[in-house]
Parts: sequence; structure tokens; C-alpha cells
Amino acid sequence: MTKANADEIFNKRLERHHDELKWLYMELYDNDSMFAELCTNMYLFYRDRRNPLKARDKIRENDPCWFRKNDMLGMMLYIDNFAGNLKGVEQKLSYFKDCNVNYIHLMPFLDSPKEHSDGGYAVANFRKVRPDLGTMKDLARLADVCHEKGLNLCMDFVMNHTSEEHEWAVRAREGDGEYMSRYFFYDNYDIPAQFEKTVPQVFPTTAPGNFTYLPEIGHYVMTSFYPYQWDLNYKNPRVFNEMMYNFLFFANQGMDVIRIDAVPYIWKELGTSCRNLKQVHTIVRMMRMIGEIICPSVLLLGEVVMEPEKVVPYFGTVEKPECHMLYNVTTMATTWNSVATRDIRLLKRQMDIVNNLPGEYTFLNYLRCHDDIGWGLDYPFLTQWEMREVPHKRFLNDYFTGKIPGSVSRGELYNDDPVTQDARFCGTTASMCGIESAEYEKDQVKWEAAIGLDIMLHAYMLSQSGIPMLYSGDEIGQLNDYSYREEPEKAADSRYIHRGKFRWDLAEQRKDKKSLQGRIFDALTRLEQIRKQEPVFDASARVCTYDVHNNSILCITREAAGDKFFGIYNFADQPETAWMQEDGPYTDLLTGMDITLHDLTVPGHGFYWVKKQ
Ligand code: GLC
Repeated sequence: MTKANADEIFNKRLERHHDELKWLYMELYDNDSMFAELCTNMYLFYRDRRNPLKARDKIRENDPCWFRKNDMLGMMLYIDNFAGNLKGVEQKLSYFKDCNVNYIHLMPFLDSPKEHSDGGYAVANFRKVRPDLGTMKDLARLADVCHEKGLNLCMDFVMNHTSEEHEWAVRAREGDGEYMSRYFFYDNYDIPAQFEKTVPQVFPTTAPGNFTYLPEIGHYVMTSFYPYQWDLNYKNPRVFNEMMYNFLFFANQGMDVIRIDAVPYIWKELGTSCRNLKQVHTIVRMMRMIGEIICPSVLLLGEVVMEPEKVVPYFGTVEKPECHMLYNVTTMATTWNSVATRDIRLLKRQMDIVNNLPGEYTFLNYLRCHDDIGWGLDYPFLTQWEMREVPHKRFLNDYFTGKIPGSVSRGELYNDDPVTQDARFCGTTASMCGIESAEYEKDQVKWEAAIGLDIMLHAYMLSQSGIPMLYSGDEIGQLNDYSYREEPEKAADSRYIHRGKFRWDLAEQRKDKKSLQGRIFDALTRLEQIRKQEPVFDASARVCTYDVHNNSILCITREAAGDKFFGIYNFADQPETAWMQEDGPYTDLLTGMDITLHDLTVPGHGFYWVKKQ
């Protein structure tokens, strides 16, 4: 591409967004010079973008729904747990093919102090990979190799805060006002005290309070998360500009998806909850436009762990989009509620809410991620069955920690707050489904039931509306790893229970169809292949729930390309009947046999994937 051609593309894209971008920038910062600087740097990042990435941009600009195809399947993993370092990941790429995965989320890998890292979410240097994981060159190379193999790469962009060891924080701690103004510094507790009146706590027991006192300079600094994670002050245009340069830097390393960490928190205002303020949306919208100008192949995935009304606005509007994808967090938590209660009514309602949103909105579906599960359910709806928030949360936590008779789940609580009586839960999918307890008790019947539940939940997740994301290790039924308790820097954070090392020795067993690993891996592979082959799994499909008049059976229908699919999932332990009368003929997609949808009996924790012929 000649320079003139390239400039023309850049100018055309800039022209499309310039007025809105400038308008929003001025609204927040009223600073022409900083806007001019932003534009100059945008051009420089565009100029430096490698040609293969520019080619990717062009293809995806012409196919903006590229990521909504039925072959999209994600997997999230920690580089060190999975393969030691970035080069190790490169050597293991064939494993993703085995798993039908074409989208890899590399958990935080930037330089971060070992003792104070929050799993890598306390970034000390945005331009440096954690030395034991490799170098920026290794990352860019991995991206190139992934692209050659049809794989997409995702990384976290921790925008809300830096580590206290980041250069800005170090200089701020030295009392340099230029850098102090990039954070929230106060020389007495008056304003922090006012903030504390309205701002909830993220880590009430592991890191109480939203401010940290720095005795060496006699100042308080805002720390919404851990005391070593200092909140950035986006009222300062220098912060916004520099963070956009970091974003573009990662895009130019070849990232396909940028996960914007903790995005609701990035704007603070006294007298508010400091969550989801309108300026956050201005910033995300600007980021989307900046991405579309320099690297339109790159997707924004917003991490908004909030109730649905708060999540959806992060898609923006159809004319003025913000994030391309958001986590389907309430559905995830509600799924586990159905596992514990064997009752799908709340889940059905939650899915109806999601399914009624505009088709352009794409959710990322998952059963587990690296974080705890918070029980953010629709409690006003649950009250009709006498289920109240505090006791119900207690029930769920007791259930999943295995304290309730009959509960087979194993795991640990997280941030068990005696004040709000709130606690969240940690554990792997397999342990939550009962595989750990069954193996411990050497109980074959329970083991079979637990495997059945695990597979059923994956089948259900793969048929939800949106893009599925597996948590590395779940494909071989990995159990809780209690070894974190022995590591001082991890011991206080029970999320590490489900962040164990990937067990390659166990993964080898996936070829043995009778082993736990083989059973789960094989079932998932079959489901993933069907999903890839059947156009009815395209993200553009019309997805609905279907009432089968049984509170334990969830039925999902998908319609696309003239096909109709039924996913029928029994959350109860015993066989249940899906009371339905649908005239066929139908095919059971798993066996290829004919099946009739007349009052279908579904085995305990069983499921059917059925397609109209
Ligand atoms: C996000 C991450 C979580 C981290 C927090 C602070 O919520 O998922 O792991 O602790 O941000 O960065």
C-alpha cells in the first residue's frame, strides 16, 4: 500500500468520526491542544500498524459481523498455568484446534509486582510483558502465528487503575503534582469520607475502604480495588490520551479483542456511587471511534459485572455503538441458581430479557471465569416464591460449599462480608457439578450424575444467544486446586482455587473415552462440531425460550436459515417430562436418529439437541 493510499484510508475514517469525537472530547476536557495531540498520535499509530493487520482491518470492515459466526468459540487461560510463557503457548496452539477454539483470551500478562498483582490486574508497565512470561516481541509473534492459524487473541486492558509501582504512581508518591493529578490525591480525609458515604466496596473483606493512606507523603489516594491499585483520574486529559495510546499500542501488537477491565468504575464523582456515570459512556464511545479509525478489526469487550439494566447501555446505540461484546453475567449467575434450586423459572425469565434485546447486541456466554460468582439475581422477581435476598444468597453459598445435605458441590466463599451478609463463591465448573466430591467419595453413581450435569451445562451454554467462552481446564473437568493456600501472595484470595495450573497429564487422558477427561472432552467436542456445522447456531439466529410446563426443564429454540433447533435441558436429578406437542419430523443432532417432540422424557441432568428436518 502506498503512503498516499494509506493516508486516504486514515483520513476517510477520521472524517467519519471527527466531529463526534471532537465534540465528546471537548465536552469532557475542553482542551484543543490535547485533542490535537490525540489526533496526531492516532495517525502515528495508524502509520505504524503492520500491513497484515491493516489487511485484517479491511476484511473485517467489510464484514462487521465476522465475530458472530457459529464457529466462534473462546477459551480463557493464564499463560503461566497453561504453558509457562508466551513461547510455550505458541507451541501448544494445536491444542486449541483440538478444542475447536478460535479465540484465546490471555489473562493479564503485563509487568506486575509479584506480591501485589491481583492476578495481573495491577499493571506496573503497560509496555512490558511480565519477564517470566516473555517479551512484547513474543506477544506480537504469537499474534502473527495465531492469525495464520485462524485464531484470534484477546487481552485485558486494565484502564481503571495502575499498580502503585507504575512509573506515574512512583512519581506521584514522590510528591510530583503532575503525576499526583493523574490519580485522586487528598491531603486530609474530608473528601474521602464523603466518597465513602456513597461508594460501595468491591473487596469488603480483602481490601476494605476506597482510599489508602500514604504515610510518607501524608496523603490519601483512591484505591477502589486493592490498596496497591491506584484509581486513574480520567478528568485529566493526559490520562485519557496516554491510556488511548496504550490501547492502540496493544492493537498494533495484533490483539483482536481488547477486554476493558472494570469499565463501569472509570469516572468518579462525589455524591455518586462512582459506577456507570455518563462520562464512562463518553469515554467508551470515544474509544470505539478511535478503534474504528486506527484498527477497525479490533473488538471491545466490556467487563460490566452489574445487573442487566446497567450492562446493556455499554452496547451504546445502533448508531453510536460502544462495546462490541459484553459478558452475560446475570445469566451466568442465574444458571447456577437453577443448578442449586433445580428450578429454571428465573433463568427462563432472564434469558427472555436477553433474547428480547436488539440482535446486534452480542453477549459472551460462560459458565465460569477467573473471578468469583456474585449472586446478583433478580430478587424482586424471586420474592413471589418467598425467596428473599439475604437468606437466598446464604442458601446458594451453603449449597455450593457443600454444606446443605444432598449438595455435591465443592468450593470456597469469597469476600464474606459480615456487614452486608453478602458473600460470593469460587470453584471450578467440575467441582461445582459434584465431580470432586464424587471422586473423593469414590461414588460411581454420583460421578456419572456429576459428569452428566457438567456436560448438560456446557450444551446449554453453547446454545445460548451470543458467543461461548470456555474456561481453560473445564474441557477436561479440572477440579478445584487448593494449593494456593500455601502461597503467601495468593492465600487470602480464594479466587485462586479455580485458577490452578493446567494439568497436561490429565489432558492426555482425554483420548481415553472412559476417563473423566475423555468423557467431558469428547462430549464437548461433539457439541462444538455440531455447533460449527449447523447454521442455526449463527449469532444472528432468533433465540427464544419455549415453555415445556415443567419447572426443571429449560427449552431454548433457535431459528436461522430456515432451520429450527430445540435445546432441552433437565436441571433436575431425576427424569422429567417436557410437556410439548411439536409436529416433526425431528432429528436428534447427537445420535442422528429421528425423535418426536411429544411429551419428551429427559433423563436427570440430561439434554437433547434437536433439529427440525
Ligand atoms: C476485574 C477483574 C478482577 C480484578 C478487578 C480489578 O473485575 O476481572 O479479577 O480483581 O477487575 O482489576
